[in-house]
Amino acid sequence: MKQSHNKIILAIDTSCDETAAAVVCGRRVLSNVIYSQVLMHQKWGGVVPSIARRAHEERIDWVVEKAIRNSKLETRNLNGIAVTYGPGLAIALEVGVRKAKELAQESGKPLIPVNHMEGHLYSPFVQNSKGNPHRNFQFPYLGLLVSGGHTELVLFKDHLTYEILGAKRDDAAGEALDKAARILGFGYPGGPVIERLAAEVHHEDTYHFPRPMMIPGNLEFSFSGLKTSLLYKVRSLSEKDKNEQLRYLASSFQEAVMQTLLKKTRTAMQETGINRVLVGGGVAVNQRLRFLMRKMVREHGGTIWFPPYKYLNFDNAAMIGVVGAIRAERRLGLQEFGKIDRVPRLSLLQSSL
Ligand code: KG4
Ligand code: ZN
Repeated sequence: MKQSHNKIILAIDTSCDETAAAVVCGRRVLSNVIYSQVLMHQKWGGVVPSIARRAHEERIDWVVEKAIRNSKLETRNLNGIAVTYGPGLAIALEVGVRKAKELAQESGKPLIPVNHMEGHLYSPFVQNSKGNPHRNFQFPYLGLLVSGGHTELVLFKDHLTYEILGAKRDDAAGEALDKAARILGFGYPGGPVIERLAAEVHHEDTYHFPRPMMIPGNLEFSFSGLKTSLLYKVRSLSEKDKNEQLRYLASSFQEAVMQTLLKKTRTAMQETGINRVLVGGGVAVNQRLRFLMRKMVREHGGTIWFPPYKYLNFDNAAMIGVVGAIRAERRLGLQEFGKIDRVPRLSLLQSSL
C-alpha cells in the first residue's frame, strides 16, 4: 500500500477493557497509547461493564491527547477519525464513539466507523513507525480470529471483503481459557497462566479432554462442553490431588483448545484451497498455538502471519487506525458524525463490502 499523506488517522477503541488511541499513517503506527483496566477487573474475575465505562470516561481525553502529542502531529494534520463502533460492550463502546464524534465535529474531519474484528484481522499487517515489517497483501487469506469474545474462521477475500466460514456457538477460545483458569483457582485473564502452567509440563495431554465439534467438515466452534469436562474432573479430585495435578489439568485443557483451533483451520484450508493464514486476537499471542499452527501450515506449504508486535495481539487502536486508513483511502464509510452509533453485536459481514 503506498504511503501518502491523506492517510493520517486518529483511531479510538473502547470496546472492552482497554482505553486506546493511536495515530497512524497508512499502515505505520506513529503513536499508540493503551490504558489497561485489567487490574480493576481482576478481583471480579472478568470485565465488569459499569466499571469499564467509568474508567473509559475518566481516561479517554488523556489517552487521545497523549496519542496526538506522541505522534508529533496536530489535529489539523489528521485526515480522519476512526472509531470502533462494535462489536463490544455497549456502554464501553459509547464512550469512544462519543469522543470521536466530538472530535470530528470540532475539527470538521470525517468520522470512520470501524469493526473491532476487522482490526484484529488486519493486525498482522500493522507496521511500526519505520514501516516494519514489510508484508505485502496477497489476497485471499484465511483468517483465524481468537479473542476473549470471538472465535471465527474468516475468508478474507480482498481489502474490507469478508466471509465468515465458521464461528463460535458458545464460549470463545479466550473465554474458555479464562473460565478454565477460574475453575483451577486463578484470576482473570486466564490465558497467560494456563500457558505458563502447560509449558512447565511440556504440553502434556494427561487427561485428553473431549475435542468439541470435531464433525468432519464442520467449521463451528464450541468450547463450553470442554469447560464442563474440566469442571467435573476437578470436582472428582481431592484438594490435594487437584493441587498436584494443576499443571497437567491446565496443559490438557490448553491442548484441547489449541488442537481444536488447529484442526478447524486445517479443514478450512483444505476446503477453500487457501494456504495463506492470518491469526489475530488475544489468544494469538499463545506460543503453543503459534508453534502448532506454524508447523501445520508449513506442512501444507503455506504461510502464516501473526501480529508482529506483542501489543497487536490484544485490544489496541493502532489496528483500528490501519483499517480506518484503508477505508479513508477508498472513501468508504466516511459517515456524517451525527449518524453513527455503537452496534454491540456487529458482525464482520456487516462491515464487508
Ligand atoms: O483480543 P483480546 O485482548 O480482547 C478481546 O477482544 O476479547 O483478548 C483477550 C483474551 C482473553 O480471553 C485472554 O485470556 C486471552 O486473550 N489471552 C491468552 C493469552 N493472553 C491473553 N490466551 C492464550 N494464551 C495467552 N498467553
Ligand atoms: Zn479484541
